[in-house]
Amino acid sequence: MTATDTSAEYSRVHGRALVFDSGVGGLTVAEELRAISPDVHVDYAADAGFFPYGDKEDAQLTERLPEVASALVGALDPDVFVIACNTASTLALPEIRERLTIPVVGTVPAIKPAARLSKTGTIGLLATPGTIRREYTAALISDFAQDVDVLLHGSVDLVTLAEAVARGETPSEEDFAAAQAPLFAQDRANQMDVIVLACTHFPLIKTQLQATAPKPVTYIDSGEAIARQTGRILASRVGDVVVEHIPRAMITDDPTRHPGLVEIFQRYGFANTEAFMLNMGERSVASVSSAGTRTRSF
Ligand code: DGL
Repeated sequence: MTATDTSAEYSRVHGRALVFDSGVGGLTVAEELRAISPDVHVDYAADAGFFPYGDKEDAQLTERLPEVASALVGALDPDVFVIACNTASTLALPEIRERLTIPVVGTVPAIKPAARLSKTGTIGLLATPGTIRREYTAALISDFAQDVDVLLHGSVDLVTLAEAVARGETPSEEDFAAAQAPLFAQDRANQMDVIVLACTHFPLIKTQLQATAPKPVTYIDSGEAIARQTGRILASRVGDVVVEHIPRAMITDDPTRHPGLVEIFQRYGFANTEAFMLNMGERSVASVSSAGTRTRSF
């Protein structure tokens, strides 16, 4: 970030952003974006039909992601596509960019700021198993944390816990402690002072992680940086355009298979949730807002 590149700089940008994740994790990025650029029209899409991404084969994701991204962008026509998912971005950002004709913002682990912030020279990385094994992640570590000891732990349980918390459930402290314990059990973990939350789901459970960490550590994530990058892309659009926008959320599955998801989206200000079914290239949208269910094909 340069001296002039502050969040305030993006407070008057507008335009349409489509924020995308496998589930509810990207809502943390959508919130950061609304905080920095309140005039940006934010829509949201969750690939609930393929959730979770963290334990999927790379080939499955590389095949699916450009398809889903292209179909969603075709339906919602945003100015920028924000992949609010480390697991997807660290794998398929080039393929998605190649497929879309609009700018794409990816989310990658905040290794560089963590390495700078650490006083001990030992940082942790909590992510999905997919993000942990990526070459992209290894390259970030060798480029920006070469003098830093980086301890890694991949967990799907933390993703599941975050989804549960978003649904309003209260998993036990033991569950949070157990899910992050393998990071703290590693050699040299007693030196660790900063932990990167390298999955957009994890900021949803930051308080619980802090409360159940065996020692005090600082947890950081990429949310604000992603929001700033989105603002930067929309920066040419500054002015007083006030157009009515009803925030929409889409999920790539039958909503009845994801109890609570529509309510979560409503809580985050997405008045309408629509099922976006992707079947062998045939697309249909079934609206499941409070007004009832309506399906249209396109
Ligand atoms: N929120 C996603 C991320 O940032 C992944 C969650 C999942 O496993 O689907 O990596």
